[in-house]
Amino acid sequence: MDKLLITNARLINEGVIRDADVYIVGERIEKIAGNIDAQHDVTVIDARGRYLIPGMIDDQVHFREPGLTNKGDLATESAAAAAGGITSFMDMPNVNPQTTTRDALADKYRLAENRCSANYGFYLGGTNRNIGEIRNLQVGEACGIKVFMGASTGDMLVDDPEVLEQVFEHAPVIVATHCEHSPTIWDNEAHAKKQYGEHVPMSEHPNIRSASACLQSSSMAVDLARRHDALLHVLHLTTAIEMGLFSKAHRSEKRITAEVCVHHLWFDESRYEDLGTRIKCNPAIKSATDREALIKALNEGRIDIIATDHAPHTAGEKARSYFKAPAGLPLVQHALLTLFDLAASQQISLETLVDRSSHAPADIFGVKDRGYVREGYFADLVIVDANKPYMVAQPKLLCKCHWSPFEGHEFSTTIDTTIVNGLVVYQGGELNGIIAGKRLEFTRAR
Ligand code: DOR
Repeated sequence: MDKLLITNARLINEGVIRDADVYIVGERIEKIAGNIDAQHDVTVIDARGRYLIPGMIDDQVHFREPGLTNKGDLATESAAAAAGGITSFMDMPNVNPQTTTRDALADKYRLAENRCSANYGFYLGGTNRNIGEIRNLQVGEACGIKVFMGASTGDMLVDDPEVLEQVFEHAPVIVATHCEHSPTIWDNEAHAKKQYGEHVPMSEHPNIRSASACLQSSSMAVDLARRHDALLHVLHLTTAIEMGLFSKAHRSEKRITAEVCVHHLWFDESRYEDLGTRIKCNPAIKSATDREALIKALNEGRIDIIATDHAPHTAGEKARSYFKAPAGLPLVQHALLTLFDLAASQQISLETLVDRSSHAPADIFGVKDRGYVREGYFADLVIVDANKPYMVAQPKLLCKCHWSPFEGHEFSTTIDTTIVNGLVVYQGGELNGIIAGKRLEFTRAR
């Protein structure tokens, strides 16, 4: 079995930052200690001056396979994720065919086998007509049930009130919701069209996909979950006004949890001016005040998880006018870098960064033996150099769509090494071609 020893690392794990060596045998962590002697047949990585963290577990990505592979696929996007320090991902069902049956789920797992650079799990998508599939779903078959309570990319809106009651009553695993009230958005769109015709400026996006549309829908999701005692995870929150819906209690005491995405923590609406439709996404990036409230909620523990909602579209598609440009942006390669910069500017602590990007998704989705640097756990690890800036430039972009909202931006931190299941998949700016990703095991039942 391969043996790997990481020495002199500054380990950020479980709320503590300390110096440690980590010894890996095969795919798991064998030992963590202050000083571990290297045996003769061990590969040593000296991590002096660098941080060691458990790899990010991204609970919301759109890798576009099957069916939309002109935008991205499981191989390309998982490679970009690994280069960004994301060692596990959970992929959404708005693909073609949609992942709305247990058979489609099984097909998707087959498609992923031996092609992913990071570990993978898939959501079953809810529809107005598939309550039978949801009821029959077995724990472990999917990371969760994705319910688009607001319409977004793909035609997956679940808006039948009776169906929503049944989903929350019977879902055997966690329900993850996209919350935006579509009728409110349609009204706002009609209003904007009246004012601007087809040339609606991008700055109208947060008025069209408004805070009120978010709040109406997320309040409904929370009410449904409470009444049915379901496990609910509200995805990609964007507004200050929704934060009162979520408790500051530790996730171990909550059945309703919340997620924020890196672009909503990083950008605010002032950036529509220079980035335009490149940062068009659903829910919309909103005001600076909203962004600050998200950071505060993250620090308070009202928001439990940080994810990406990586949603690639081609550069050509994104260059279209407001209504025609699809929503979503590629983020996996730079997500951790945005978080380390938020930590460098004291907006979040390094301990919180690791908790919300790795420990929390492992706990909330019941990911077996991952998400922590612990003896016996899988060795999904990232070495981060916080003293080495990283300039985002097109030749370094690994996503199939080959553009990034961060092009030309210099982050203060570089992802040095990514290890997945004990194998070094990315080091010194290069992927080494090892396909180390395995299917994630999910253990949490409602
Ligand atoms: O901006 C978004 N893009 N939000 C979503 O909910 C879907 C995603 C996509 O699939 O493009």
